[in-house]
Amino acid sequence: MNKSTANIYRRIYRYSQPYLGRICTALVASLIVAGTDVSLAKLVQPLIDKIIVAQNMALVNFVPVAVIGLAILKGASRFVQEYFIKTAGQLAVVDIRNDLYGHTMSLSMGYFSRDSTGNLMSRILNDVGILQRSAADVLVDGVRESFTLVGLTVLAFHNDWKLAAIAFTVLPLAVVPGSFIGRKIKLNTRRGQSTIGNLTRLLQETLSGIKVIKAFGTEQRETDSFRQENQKFYHFMRKVLKYDSASAPAVEILSSFGVAAVCWYGIHRVLSGAMTQGELFSFIAAILMMYTPVKRLTKVSNNIQRAVGAAERVFEVLDVVPEICDAPQAVDLGKVSGEVSFDGVDFAYDKELVIRALSLKIAPGEVVALVGPSGGGKSTVVGMLSRFYDPQQGAIYIDGHDIRQVTLASLKRNIALVDQETFLFNDSIRNNIRYGRPEATDAEIIEAARQAYADDFIRELPGDYENTIGDRGARLSGGQRQRICIARAILRDAPILLLDEATSALDTESEAMVQKALSNLMKNRTTIVVAHRLSTIMHADKIVVLENGQIQEVGRHADLLKGNGLYRKLYEMQFK
Ligand SMILES: Nc1ncnc2c1ncn2[C@@H]1O[C@H](COP(=O)(O)OP(=O)(O)O)[C@@H](O)[C@H]1O
Ligand SMILES: [Mg+2]
Repeated sequence: MNKSTANIYRRIYRYSQPYLGRICTALVASLIVAGTDVSLAKLVQPLIDKIIVAQNMALVNFVPVAVIGLAILKGASRFVQEYFIKTAGQLAVVDIRNDLYGHTMSLSMGYFSRDSTGNLMSRILNDVGILQRSAADVLVDGVRESFTLVGLTVLAFHNDWKLAAIAFTVLPLAVVPGSFIGRKIKLNTRRGQSTIGNLTRLLQETLSGIKVIKAFGTEQRETDSFRQENQKFYHFMRKVLKYDSASAPAVEILSSFGVAAVCWYGIHRVLSGAMTQGELFSFIAAILMMYTPVKRLTKVSNNIQRAVGAAERVFEVLDVVPEICDAPQAVDLGKVSGEVSFDGVDFAYDKELVIRALSLKIAPGEVVALVGPSGGGKSTVVGMLSRFYDPQQGAIYIDGHDIRQVTLASLKRNIALVDQETFLFNDSIRNNIRYGRPEATDAEIIEAARQAYADDFIRELPGDYENTIGDRGARLSGGQRQRICIARAILRDAPILLLDEATSALDTESEAMVQKALSNLMKNRTTIVVAHRLSTIMHADKIVVLENGQIQEVGRHADLLKGNGLYRKLYEMQFK
């Protein structure tokens, strides 16, 4: 067993620690189950020697009583064992899943652009699911069958150690195919789970991109790639099933050598009078009864390998350290006045710098428009202020605090963002607007919607504010979605407002209205607005022209127009 596997066992054990009480109860019950099995094997001897061979009629009546009594005892203990250990396993897995989800939420934006949403979903649902099923089997069978096996072994040696020694010479042989099979199962489970991850990713992408698929008529192509991935999954599963199915027969064949030797030698000893018939049968009964636990234990070991394969995928995510988290001595930012400054900021998503030596000072309440060709780095600047990403060089300050030295929670409380992706939850309009301030009253929600010029169209929807807007707001137009996002930001009431192409989907008429709303909103707030519309840009206190991650020009509209720079070119292309 290598170090990382040992580590996985240790971590799984740690999750089961809070439920040791249940596990111990189950252990006691397992001991009783194993004890009844061993007693049954043991009782074969007096049954044959004292009752049948000795023809003792008086004792015959005890036989059914003993059989039923033992069965009831075994049944009851089995229930206790199974119920307690399975619930313990389930509870541990619930904890793992909660931790995994909580941890996933805490990961930074960078992680989400590397691992696909579908794959993450699959880790949280499918891999933890495998862990859950395997853990239950392992715990139930592993414990009980080990006890039974130990009991029966002791009985066999106690009855006749020579015979037992013969029977057990072959057992070590079973370990060899066992460990080979186990390794194969772990490997293929891992591969299978990663194809399940791909399947989930495909599902997630194609279902959310169904419109594109319909528009381009690529249903068949998507169906084919799904089939292909699904086939790949079968390919790995088939291997898991093959090795899993082979393990019991392998054990059976190997142990038949032992049984054959025992029969041969045992019968000789009975015939020569060195052993009673009862002793031999009791011995053989014990050996045959060992079959079941040995076979189950090889299944258990297979299951452990499957669980380890899945657990690796789970712990892989749990081990990712969020790049962006609270610094050790992070302070609470409080409510800021809204002074923002970028100081020599360099940033790269991968290797290539997309922001270069960016320095910019924004006074409280100022409105700054970021303009420039697409890909110039506007959204990146906005994202860095929200600490989606931290700069590689330089620093960003709000009210003089380096934003890496304040708590994330207090930073976010000071920022309201309307992003170019107008994301809404599949919930009522009311709850979507309320999202950034759960304690807001209904009146405040309506007021925010009115300011965003969303109230009118909301009232025309069936159920108005209670209207559920479908997956990601699919039942609304782009402009309507944007207005709801703006209402959400208005309600948030934060001193710093970030608008990343927040009005791009609006038609001219509603844009004019929303513009009015936004200028109300911008009052007394520091605003960074990424915009393509002249109306927004013209009223900005400062226009920052960004190209290739560098500031080309800064100034007011009229001043920049006088110059002969990039702004003027952009202006002439877009608005003339
Ligand atoms: N998540 C990301 N990972 C890698 N590169 C990215 C990512 N997001 C944006 N980029 C790249 O960074 C550059 C700036 O992008 P962005 O800030 O979105 O520009 P803008 O908003 O001005 O159009 C572009 O070259 C883009 O390809
Ligand atoms: Mg952008």
